[in-house]
Amino acid sequence: MKILDGKLAAQAIKGELKITVAQWVIEGKKVPHLAAILVGNNGASETYVAAKVKACEETGFKSTLIRMEEDISEFKLLEKIEQLNNDPDIDGILVQLPLPKHISSKKVINTIDPDKDVDGFHPVSVGKMVEGMPTFLPATPYGIMLLLEHYKINTKGKHAIVLGRSNIVGRPISILLSGNANPGNCTVTICHSHTQNLKDICLQGDIIIAAIGIPEYVKPDMVKDGAVVIDVGITRVEDASRKSGFKLKGDVEYDTVAPKCSWITPVPGGVGPMTIAALLKNTFNSCIQKN
Ligand code: GUN
Repeated sequence: MKILDGKLAAQAIKGELKITVAQWVIEGKKVPHLAAILVGNNGASETYVAAKVKACEETGFKSTLIRMEEDISEFKLLEKIEQLNNDPDIDGILVQLPLPKHISSKKVINTIDPDKDVDGFHPVSVGKMVEGMPTFLPATPYGIMLLLEHYKINTKGKHAIVLGRSNIVGRPISILLSGNANPGNCTVTICHSHTQNLKDICLQGDIIIAAIGIPEYVKPDMVKDGAVVIDVGITRVEDASRKSGFKLKGDVEYDTVAPKCSWITPVPGGVGPMTIAALLKNTFNSCIQKN
């Protein structure tokens, strides 16, 4: 069993990007600039946004973190997005999800200028992705593709089982893996809460992408010997022995599943860091397109 080390791969990608950005700036071009909006103070969202801002700093990007109160009106949030859409210094806009219940995520996503949609959630970006046109790919699926590419995992003709059908991970990764590209060219099965015989389907998987958000859901009797397992789950589970009071658990029962795999991602240190590397790549591409 070998580890798909997302921390290492992300460091390599960010290192390359840092050199490219420095060269770009030496040529007198604009410093790439990401604007992140964080509504409320959900602990996990705080951590993710802080990591995104830190990665910008480390890679030579500008970042602006806009914090809004939990009870901010939808109108005020949309107004802020419009302002960022019209600000020529901003290359990428991300609004951290989930949002409070009184705000429509759909409306928020649809308000972001598709040319600054570095999260790849706008219907224009999604449509282009489905068509195989160049666009911003959603950060988590794009990060998984970069990880497969980094470790030269052969995906051609393989059966990929995707657990979860979210717009953020399950659906887009199923489209990317089935695409005529490398990585890609998989036969893809998407499973969800109404799937029957889930265990039998999982056992057919040469590649399993677990993105359901249920800690340790995938057990060893669901995984074929030699499978490649990508764990997207990152749930906070109470742990009184830790200073933070929690530990992070993936969707895969790592200790029992790992010995069966050819490759597996750890949690943390697998998909998470790759998501951030992918977001930076999107932001720099946006900057290049505009300048
Ligand atoms: N919440 C969970 N994943 C993501 C992501 O990739 N982008 C944003 N904006 N919010 C998220």
